[in-house]
Amino acid sequence: MLKRTGHNQSNSEYDDFRGYLERHCGIVLGDNKQYLVSSRLGGLMREHDMASLGELVERLNQGGRALRQAVIDAMTTNETLWFRDQYPFNILTAKILPEFASSSTLSIWSAACSTGQEPYSIAMTLEEAKRVSGKNTDYRITGTDINASVLAKAGEGIYDSLALARGLSIERKERYFQPLEEGRWQIKSAMRQKVSFRALNLLDSYGALGKFDIIFCRNVLIYFSQERKADILNRMASALRPNGYLFLGASESVTSLTSAFEMIHCRPGIVYRKKA
Ligand SMILES: C[S@@+](CC[C@H](N)C(=O)[O-])C[C@H]1O[C@@H](n2cnc3c(N)ncnc32)[C@H](O)[C@@H]1O
Repeated sequence: MLKRTGHNQSNSEYDDFRGYLERHCGIVLGDNKQYLVSSRLGGLMREHDMASLGELVERLNQGGRALRQAVIDAMTTNETLWFRDQYPFNILTAKILPEFASSSTLSIWSAACSTGQEPYSIAMTLEEAKRVSGKNTDYRITGTDINASVLAKAGEGIYDSLALARGLSIERKERYFQPLEEGRWQIKSAMRQKVSFRALNLLDSYGALGKFDIIFCRNVLIYFSQERKADILNRMASALRPNGYLFLGASESVTSLTSAFEMIHCRPGIVYRKKA
């Protein structure tokens, strides 16, 4: 007899579901994350009148794209904030941008950008470096994510006071945002034009994105298996121009996954440079 785990999940249904999730977005769920699945998918399952996780997997396997997107949106963790960890933005200003001083345009990819705080923090860093150096280096930032709802939010660039309070100084808020009603603020359109957003699953090809000088891929590899991490890192190396740079999250590393990068210690913080 199947062991019931509550919320109408049997162990085999849970295994089928996590297999589906891993195949479609790389996220590996641990053995004991049934509660997480129940809490994230409860509303969606009620909305679609599904009594069990098995029924959900069956419907997903029939190929409904809208349902798959809704499940992915519910299961991804989109935690983010402005200038997260601070050191990547300091390294960008102090080390990387001077190296690219002779480039006319910089191309930057914020992979797994969630609601946009990361790519807009990069844009603010570049604007500030331009003001200090007096150089008018142009830049384009591409933000991608698998989650359609966070991407829509990122494109609008509208944030409430709670989101704004996480890592953004008052000076930056006043410089780069315009106030809307009810305590919300929107990124000014000149900056929004520098950042474009598109849906991209990191398991899919990066070919259509073009080549980049710098990639931020932060706080997403932690969810993937070692094989997926290695594959993504090798493909990111191919998407970088020679001597391009890669930032990972503070708890992430390329060690024992790929030899495509050299590790550069910046104290504080690490950045990876694509090997020639
Ligand atoms: C924790 S957030 C990190 C956001 C930002 N990079 C940061 O460090 O603050 C992780 C993001 O990865 C996205 N994600 C998860 N799996 C993905 C996949 N297979 N392809 C693209 N994005 C994915 C999630 O939707 C989520 O927005």
